[in-house]
Amino acid sequence: MILVTGGAGFIGANFVLDWLASSDEPVLNLDKLSYAGNLHNLEGLHQDPRHRFVQGDIGDSALLAGLLAEHQPRAIVHFAAESHVDRSIHGPEDFIQTNIVGTFRLLEAVRRYGAALPDRARQGLRFLQVSTDEVYGSLAPREPAFAETRAFQPNSPYSASKAASDHLVRAWHHTYGLPVLTTHCSNNYGPLQFPEKLIPLMIVNALAGQPLPVYGDGLQRRDWLYVKDHCSAIRRVLEAGQVGHSYHIGGGNEQANIDIVHSICTLLDALRPRPDGQSYLSQIAHVQDRPGHDRRYAIDARKIGRELGWQPAETWASGIRKTVQWYLEHPQWVAQVQTGAYRDWVQTCYPQVPAADAAGEIRAAGSGA
Ligand code: NAD
Ligand code: TYD
Repeated sequence: MILVTGGAGFIGANFVLDWLASSDEPVLNLDKLSYAGNLHNLEGLHQDPRHRFVQGDIGDSALLAGLLAEHQPRAIVHFAAESHVDRSIHGPEDFIQTNIVGTFRLLEAVRRYGAALPDRARQGLRFLQVSTDEVYGSLAPREPAFAETRAFQPNSPYSASKAASDHLVRAWHHTYGLPVLTTHCSNNYGPLQFPEKLIPLMIVNALAGQPLPVYGDGLQRRDWLYVKDHCSAIRRVLEAGQVGHSYHIGGGNEQANIDIVHSICTLLDALRPRPDGQSYLSQIAHVQDRPGHDRRYAIDARKIGRELGWQPAETWASGIRKTVQWYLEHPQWVAQVQTGAYRDWVQTCYPQVPAADAAGEIRAAGSGA
């Protein structure tokens, strides 16, 4: 069994779905279901005995110790985080609590759990920290892409909290010998992404006839990767990565924000033309820039290609088409996450038990629990 934290969020849910599509190894999924966590993301696993969902906080040491002792995972894949830069600017506290204090508690729980394991199991144990390229700060226009050797220079409360948690992970390896792996990925996009992030926000606003808010001049650059490719890279690092190493994951697809928005509008013009015959491009509105906005990120992913043979499967053209199509086909998902109605779904889906029992555990009907 593996323990996944944050597995009802965007990347974590995609990871759990892909994991169980390609392996029979069970997943224990720990997520507190913040605004960004949504059990609808895992609807397909509702009756699946290989998936055990637990609603709880990674900062809850007693819960962590109990879960680790009971389920004896061979690996921990740590996605749980506050993840949105704009929210971190308006309210950094949650980012400090979850990303730093929460990761610290998780590391401590895993360290104690690992120390009590028999030799063989301890040697096989892995803690995989899912991090971001944002910890490196902003690149100048002609600077080479971030390599694994680059020093951290985080600029936002979000990236500073992720960098702090990465430092803790590194220190727990160096000091206590915890068998860690760290991945730094570029911006993800794809199905199940909460419509506060650039790509889903633009799709959802366009369809709703709302303005498409482009920060500043829109010439900030990001390196976009389809979420399923991020998940396949994490599986590969977990399988074959060298303990103590970090691996960069990216799509080699660096683009200016304004070009991303143009691509989305052009696709929507073809797939769901506006009734008035105008292009969605007419909805673009340049708005005030984000404070401290990083100008450019780009990731050098040659190490994971060279050492672990990983390559992305999707191109930007194929990935963004799939993404736009997914949002067109899932208006209900969008409506639910926007209204918070998905919270009620927890009760509808798991009527036999309270939302979280004393141990914080939700037992899926038919899950064998
Ligand atoms: P997300 O915001 O969609 O999901 C985060 C999940 O963590 C949610 O389900 C939330 O309920 C859960 N969570 C939050 N606080 C928790 C807590 N205290 N205890 C338990 N669960 C908690 O985020 P995402 O975009 O899926 O990102 C997942 C991870 O990947 C994060 O660590 C993020 O830093 C990293 N990452 C994201 C991107 C990206 O482009 N989205 C890129 C690189 C790395
Ligand atoms: P975002 O998806 O929030 O990811 P991050 O800030 O972690 O890279 O934003 C991606 C880029 O898009 C970033 O440069 C900010 C910009 N952006 C806008 O221009 N308008 C928006 O409404 C949002 C949410 C983001």
